[in-house]
Amino acid sequence: MPPMPAPLSLNKIWLIGFMGCGKSTVGAHLAKALGYKFLDTDLQIATQEGLSVERIFKEKGEKYFRHLEKDLVACLNQVPSPLVIATGGGLPLQVRLKGTLIYLHLDFEGLYARLLNDSNPRPLFKDKESLHALYQQRAPLYEGMATFKLEASSAPQELALQLVTLLAQKP
Ligand code: S3P
Repeated sequence: MPPMPAPLSLNKIWLIGFMGCGKSTVGAHLAKALGYKFLDTDLQIATQEGLSVERIFKEKGEKYFRHLEKDLVACLNQVPSPLVIATGGGLPLQVRLKGTLIYLHLDFEGLYARLLNDSNPRPLFKDKESLHALYQQRAPLYEGMATFKLEASSAPQELALQLVTLLAQKP
């Protein structure tokens, strides 16, 4: 299928949601489908710093990481070309994002199962109870800021196609 250009007003498309919901995978598929560039904030920060996110947390602290996230958003806001951006789960809670915000939603048990099987270490995933508390705190915040909320249980390619349709209907 040829890339389908979205309207120009959709200059920045941010994928938001709890860790493990599939922002990076879905974001990459969506960018490809729209013919947009794709950026993953965790990957960008890790590349910039020459350290994994896990090591940044360990060696420099969460506060330092959050500053990097805010600086990166400020830079991205200056980029004139359309972008699909997969955010780290805590990023949209640090800084107000401008553009179209897509919340990939999964219920807590679904996320927990995915995180248990995920090889990417999450510094904030310590145990089920504290993860659940974080989920309960964040889920309504993601929901409140989202332009669209999408159930994230389908395959990433399928979700990207659903999003292309949703975005094309956006006034
Ligand atoms: C975080 C989520 C992680 C990463 C960091 C902090 C969070 O990204 O940014 O470990 O605060 O939820 P993912 O959402 O891609 O796992």
